[in-house]
Amino acid sequence: MADPLRIGLIGAGWIATDHVFVLRKLGHDVVAICDIDLERAAKVAPEGARIYGAWEELLEAEELDAVWVATPPLHHRAPAVAAMERGLPVFLEKPIARTLEDAVAIAEASERAGVVCAIGYQWHATEALEHLMAALGDQPVAYLWGVSVGPTAARSWFLERSGGGGNLLERGSHQLDLQRAVAGEVESVQVAATGIHLAQSEIDPGDIEDAATITLRFANGAVGTVILAWTTQGQPGAYSLDVLAPSATLHLKLDPAFTLSGQVGDVRIKETMVVHPFERAIARFVDAIEAATPNAVFCTPRDAIETLATALACERSLLEGGRIVEVAEVLEA
Ligand SMILES: NC(=O)c1ccc[n+]([C@@H]2O[C@H](COP(=O)([O-])OP(=O)(O)OC[C@H]3O[C@@H](n4cnc5c(N)ncnc54)[C@H](O)[C@@H]3O)[C@@H](O)[C@H]2O)c1
Repeated sequence: MADPLRIGLIGAGWIATDHVFVLRKLGHDVVAICDIDLERAAKVAPEGARIYGAWEELLEAEELDAVWVATPPLHHRAPAVAAMERGLPVFLEKPIARTLEDAVAIAEASERAGVVCAIGYQWHATEALEHLMAALGDQPVAYLWGVSVGPTAARSWFLERSGGGGNLLERGSHQLDLQRAVAGEVESVQVAATGIHLAQSEIDPGDIEDAATITLRFANGAVGTVILAWTTQGQPGAYSLDVLAPSATLHLKLDPAFTLSGQVGDVRIKETMVVHPFERAIARFVDAIEAATPNAVFCTPRDAIETLATALACERSLLEGGRIVEVAEVLEA
């Protein structure tokens, strides 16, 4: 096992609880927690951890080996860049940022400082993805369809498009990141969203879509679809990715099972999960710190910028009547 790291965590909301749980399971010390809401920080903090209401104070006061940033996307850049400028590795929750400008600043900060930075797209870290890529071998991927349907927490920033980028960015970008990992770069996207509320029929709704279909055209000629829906609490969830190649039909079951099944040629495939991808993503980040190999993480900032650009192209398509949007339009803007 890796030497225990002294970790400072910034942003003590929903996902922070999972990070603290896994970090402690892996034997690391979460020594300080910051949230602008001190009660939240206190609730997430392990016994003995010091509590801060401002991340600047946490970075100034603590002797740390790494920093976790799990604030809402509009608040990723400032703490992540400040930590890296102090030479600290950063595990940054996905999406890398709300805007491309912030994302580029984060990538540049990690490169300037030469520190490890991982972006928390944990599906990218599933063993099933490795099995899937090995099963495909050199066959070209022709067609992919991903399903992400289910309830989630209605955090205030998530309900505002300007804060979270809606379901496309907050939830859909997991699928975009995964499909990019399988089929390579996306050239253009097209989105249609339902005008009928699902989850938002039960709450004070925001200005975001509840469900959308995304079509992706990949540079290699493949086509992908993402079926994305935020459904009412208590409804069942479905999370998966199916992939077709000339002689492969593969089904990757995502949360919570993370299994791969299907057929390649006439060989049946069945692979199960050994380690949860959330834990693998964190363990790989820690290994990359120890080996000083920033590119060894599952999702680098540069990789996450491409996923963000794809998600922003989807958002542009949605807001501009479903037109086909080239990802290059977003990257060059
Ligand atoms: N990997 C995953 O599966 C997954 C799941 C959920 C959320 N996320 C990501 O994690 C991040 C946080 O999401 P969440 O669901 O935990 O949100 P949340 O709203 O539950 O928690 C965010 C916390 O950050 C705090 N905060 C806001 N601005 C801050 C600042 N400047 N300094 C310190 N604290 C600040 C808030 O008070 C809040 O407690 C987002 O980027 C989100 O996309 C990832």
